[in-house]
Amino acid sequence: MHDPTIQTPWNPTGPRDRPTTRAAPLTDRQSSDEKRMLYADLAQAVEGLLAGETDWIANTANVAASIYHSLPALNWAGFYFVRGDELVLGPFQGKPACVRIRIGKGVCGTAAEQQRTILVPDVHDFPGHIACDVASRSELVVPLLRDGRVLGVLDLDSPIPNRFDEADRQGCETLVGILLSAGGI
Ligand code: SME
Repeated sequence: MHDPTIQTPWNPTGPRDRPTTRAAPLTDRQSSDEKRMLYADLAQAVEGLLAGETDWIANTANVAASIYHSLPALNWAGFYFVRGDELVLGPFQGKPACVRIRIGKGVCGTAAEQQRTILVPDVHDFPGHIACDVASRSELVVPLLRDGRVLGVLDLDSPIPNRFDEADRQGCETLVGILLSAGGI
């Protein structure tokens, strides 16, 4: 039987290695306090990784990898960048994904168009959700905003419905803030 609290190579939703953090053991149902501690550690780790580096590709790649390997119960974490009236796939971790998404389409395109974070408890209930991986059941998309312009989005997918909450929203918005502060775009 699938046990999301046990890390195994065949359990894609289980917690992965997390050597740089000190938060409580991971499960897919953490308390908000545990999540906040995890995000505080993750923010510190990301600040260290990005310190002195302004290459946008390198920094987004390291942020995607840090998120994917630190947060439990994800099946995809990565970036899309605005290119004209589309979002184009950027650095990510997880299965290969849709390359182009029109602004206004799907969860990512909607977050980009509306310039706000979108938290989807169950993707089956989001009209127009784009299923890059049929395993995805919940999603969190944070826009990358600078001077009132959207530069792209950070997208997190989970195979577990209701995986994301306010602590995830705040934690991911903080990570995006750190990324944008590093410059390079
Ligand atoms: N589900 C997204 C598409 C991107 S993938 O999840 C990586 C959407 O509806 O925009």
